[in-house]
Amino acid sequence: MLVTIPAVLGPEQLRHARALLAAAAWEDGRATAGVQSALAKRNEQLPQDSAAGREIGAAITAGLGRNALFLSAALPKAIFPPLFNRYRAAGGHGFGNHVDNAIRYLPDGSGRIRTDLSATLFLSAPEEYEGGELTVEDNYGIHQVKLPAGDLILYPATSLHRVEPVTSGERLASFFWIESMVRDDAQRTLLLDMDLAVRRLAERVGDEDPAIVSLTGTYHNLLRRWADA
Ligand code: NI
Repeated sequence: MLVTIPAVLGPEQLRHARALLAAAAWEDGRATAGVQSALAKRNEQLPQDSAAGREIGAAITAGLGRNALFLSAALPKAIFPPLFNRYRAAGGHGFGNHVDNAIRYLPDGSGRIRTDLSATLFLSAPEEYEGGELTVEDNYGIHQVKLPAGDLILYPATSLHRVEPVTSGERLASFFWIESMVRDDAQRTLLLDMDLAVRRLAERVGDEDPAIVSLTGTYHNLLRRWADA
């Protein structure tokens, strides 16, 4: 399932991030691509050890840690430190169809994560560029995503996806992966649907209602059954 998480970064954080990224040294994205994706990848990336990237990445990770929708949708076990890319019309940039690598080694050498979810956080406003949609193909069809600056899209890392060629302007984004406590997308989707519905119902009938207590218990017992915490 695709889930949009609005306003992970606020306007002031975005302004600061954009200033850092404008001054940063970018490199050819193919430096970090696998063999198959190097063929399809035409963009620029910040080096993994970039100080600007680390600072903005920490703000993104902190924002996600406070975001109830993200926590419910991703049930995160580990978040890969956010990376950054830039697609410019002048460079003929785009990224053809690919599936992200299943395993990513953490840049600090502390281990690895299984990529259950992929995330893209848009840092450019939609009116700053043409093209550049994130196109995700899943069981339900083809989704084209272009969000306001500061918003994030979560999608199953199993999906075939691409970034459409940018035909004017430039598109800045952060991208990273999440290992979830619940690796199966269908189970995560059921848990998210249930959590959101129970919360909506609780607003109407109150947290103390016996049906809410029972449904909340069922949510946690399903999570206990499926989570690899
Ligand atoms: Ni990808």
